[in-house]
Amino acid sequence: MKRLSDNVIVMGNGYFNFYLLGNEDAVLLECGTRAGAAIFKQQWQELEPKPVVKHIVILHSHFDHACGLPILKELFPDAEVLGSAAAQKFLSKEKIVKDLYRNDAIASELYLKHGLIQEKPDTSELGFLGVDRAVGEGDILELASGLSLKFLDAQGHSACSIAAYLESDQVMFVSDATGYRSSKDTISPVFFQDYDLYISTLNKLKSYPSTVLGVAHGDISTGDEIKEFYQSTLQAAEDCYALIKTHLNEGMDENELARLLFDRYIKGGLAYYPEEMMLGSMYLLIKNVKGK
Ligand SMILES: [Fe+2]
Repeated sequence: MKRLSDNVIVMGNGYFNFYLLGNEDAVLLECGTRAGAAIFKQQWQELEPKPVVKHIVILHSHFDHACGLPILKELFPDAEVLGSAAAQKFLSKEKIVKDLYRNDAIASELYLKHGLIQEKPDTSELGFLGVDRAVGEGDILELASGLSLKFLDAQGHSACSIAAYLESDQVMFVSDATGYRSSKDTISPVFFQDYDLYISTLNKLKSYPSTVLGVAHGDISTGDEIKEFYQSTLQAAEDCYALIKTHLNEGMDENELARLLFDRYIKGGLAYYPEEMMLGSMYLLIKNVKGK
């Protein structure tokens, strides 16, 4: 738990960041996994004074950003859940939600195995994962305290990705839209939807003056680190694209290439994700380069 600006604190254990915006009426950004939300719940109980959480934002609907929602709704039953129209649509489909929970349960097992959590969260019952109101590019959420949060479309990682910008504090909440710092020297590119959209989202987000970059996982860049982070993550995406293109042109088998990408990029916090899912994501990277 750490204060990042006058109106923003970060909670969670670093693998899953939860952002509380506002000291009176508040917005909670990011829902994490069930394991992540259980950690948030403990921290919430210790937090004094507590703001009143009026809104919860799902910045995209991947399992590690949505499955914590039932735990958060137990804490904040009256909060309105916001997300993109695409997230609202995905999360209304029973089969998709079942898959999300299946991955969430696998991830919980891995966290337990690696000592990141002490107790396995209850994964027996599927909770509600609905978005109450769709938001997108240019929509503004005004809080009673006078704070306003602007939403931006942030596609490229996924079709359902949005970002949010708190102009008063110059804090940009990007979720996974800007890549995943999987080690000190590696940013894993995550253009799982589309490469060009991913790059144009990075360039758009980069154009907003920011003192805090609220990523969903791992270290939060501040001040001068932000410019450097954007440069590094753009470079990482371009390098990954070139690497895939070169190997495909050389005739490398796609299964071998997917394994090569997995070994290169799936480390740090990403190593605690379901292997089958992450390997599948490497095929998405390949597909998104092949299609160009
Ligand atoms: Fe994601």
